Amino acid sequence: MNRREFISGMVAAGAAGGLSAAEGSTATDAAAGKPLKVCVFSDIHYERGFWTNADDPSFLEKIMARAERESCDMMIQCGDFMHGVAKPWQKEFVKLYNEFMIPGYHVLGNHDQEQNSAKETCDAYRIATSGHYSFDRGGFRFVIADPNYFCPEPGKYVHYERSNYARAHGATTNVIPPEELEWLRATIVGSPLPCVVLSHESLERGNYDPVANSDAVRAVFNEANARKPGTVRLVINGHTHNDNLRVLDNILYWDVNSANYQWFGPKHAKYPAEYMKTHPGAQYTLGWTEPLSGVLTLWQDGRIRIEGSKADWLFGVKPADANYPKYDRDGRETHPVIQSADMTFHFG
Ligand SMILES: [Fe+2]
Repeated sequence: MNRREFISGMVAAGAAGGLSAAEGSTATDAAAGKPLKVCVFSDIHYERGFWTNADDPSFLEKIMARAERESCDMMIQCGDFMHGVAKPWQKEFVKLYNEFMIPGYHVLGNHDQEQNSAKETCDAYRIATSGHYSFDRGGFRFVIADPNYFCPEPGKYVHYERSNYARAHGATTNVIPPEELEWLRATIVGSPLPCVVLSHESLERGNYDPVANSDAVRAVFNEANARKPGTVRLVINGHTHNDNLRVLDNILYWDVNSANYQWFGPKHAKYPAEYMKTHPGAQYTLGWTEPLSGVLTLWQDGRIRIEGSKADWLFGVKPADANYPKYDRDGRETHPVIQSADMTFHFG
């Protein structure tokens, strides 16, 4: 079966048909004690002829095939899925994910709307133009935050679009506006269901491009858990292309690695000349040989399992070969790994 047949076969097998049809469909399963299985991946950065691996839809197809093989109830991409949605091949890529038989959800990243308006990307991702939304599924509440706003002046919040934030020198970036913070509090505090919160940028990192007002957001989580222990259980982010698990205030924070590469900045010339010619962005990056994803299983009783994945370095080139640091600014190692874990949280 070639790629086109594989894609059309997956779509024909039963499109989800939008988010509303998918929501709540496993609520009775949750009541019966059945866990929820979610395929999680991030930062696939689909873009033709530039980034490492990023023009290869087979990376997404392989992750979707894993989700199907492991009978996942849903999928969620943690942002920087692509760099724009308006070109025909970009539309085709979004459609591939949106119309897959397993419902696929989106977290807005800083790059997803850099070639068009935020509204165009949010429409393509089937989310509100504000970028934040929530849904209940399988006995859990998924709360998707959007910190892709910058403050050119105090009190003014501008949504990222058409790379505007990159030109806003001196502005505070990655900010959750006050209205969204209020919405987060209203959605989380007192939630009847345990919550999984997602945002593209990290809500717990200290140094490497975190959410600027993450303290205020974590205060909401702690307020919810003080009122009803176990309300916020898991917080997931992408963006930094590294793998990390951290427990903070009895909440698991999962820093999800990129599906396909790490960006370093300084140029290298370690990849074959032919590859560099067709992927000019590769000179700033090191890639993986296979896409990374994690299968997350959530139980109502506090168990959380992550089945990760592992790849090799593209062309065998490791950070040390290109004079790149092994660890990022928060001391997290760059490598083609999403680690596995099996944890039980106790509340009360
Ligand atoms: Fe990002």
